[in-house]
Amino acid sequence: MKFFIDTADLDEIREAESWGVLDGVTTNPSLYAKIGGKLADFEDHMGKICKIVGEDVPVSAESTAKTTEDMIAEGEHLAKIAPNIVVKLPICAESLAATHQLYKEGIPVNMTLVFSAPQALLAASAGARYISPFVGRFDDIGEDGIEQLATMVQCVKNYDFGREVEIITASVRTPNHVTQAALIGADIATVPMAALKKCLAHPLTDQGLEKFEADWKKVVEG
Ligand code: E4P
Repeated sequence: MKFFIDTADLDEIREAESWGVLDGVTTNPSLYAKIGGKLADFEDHMGKICKIVGEDVPVSAESTAKTTEDMIAEGEHLAKIAPNIVVKLPICAESLAATHQLYKEGIPVNMTLVFSAPQALLAASAGARYISPFVGRFDDIGEDGIEQLATMVQCVKNYDFGREVEIITASVRTPNHVTQAALIGADIATVPMAALKKCLAHPLTDQGLEKFEADWKKVVEG
């Protein structure tokens, strides 16, 4: 499984990058607003993220355009920021058409806000490079996000779209979301920094380390 970080915060991206586990970055309008991002700085900020992670690491920058024409224009514009930009589009009729055009131009699209298998299949058909089902938001409304993810992964994996299509497990809130996504065989989990830190921690690791340190102190002190 690949780990993406779900944030627009440069320090968090630098920290995850320093761990050597970062395969990608996803952002969205809410995450950019959360860091106090300004409209005028958006492209510059996406450029900074692309630079931190390096050219081989995909960075999703979301378009807020409403028409197919504007999505294509914004997608083409965003793609010029850096070679690792992925254009993120919310699934709808307009974005399917835009995805198809951007795909033909060689610009990768991450289809976001995906909540059903038919949506995922349509995204794959249109030419999306990545598909992002939101597991946590299903849980928020009392549905089982992991069960929904499993259905979407299975449906997409049943077919050969003639090009690489990867499922990004999005709206990840807990280490268990990561475990379950990996068991299902979802390609990627995009994880916020707080959840990524929870993935790294375990109380038995802490206890074990404490004991090793105490015992080693005895060895050192004779
Ligand atoms: C995915 O790409 C989205 O940015 C993200 O995972 C949304 O997560 P949320 O439901 O916690 O806002």
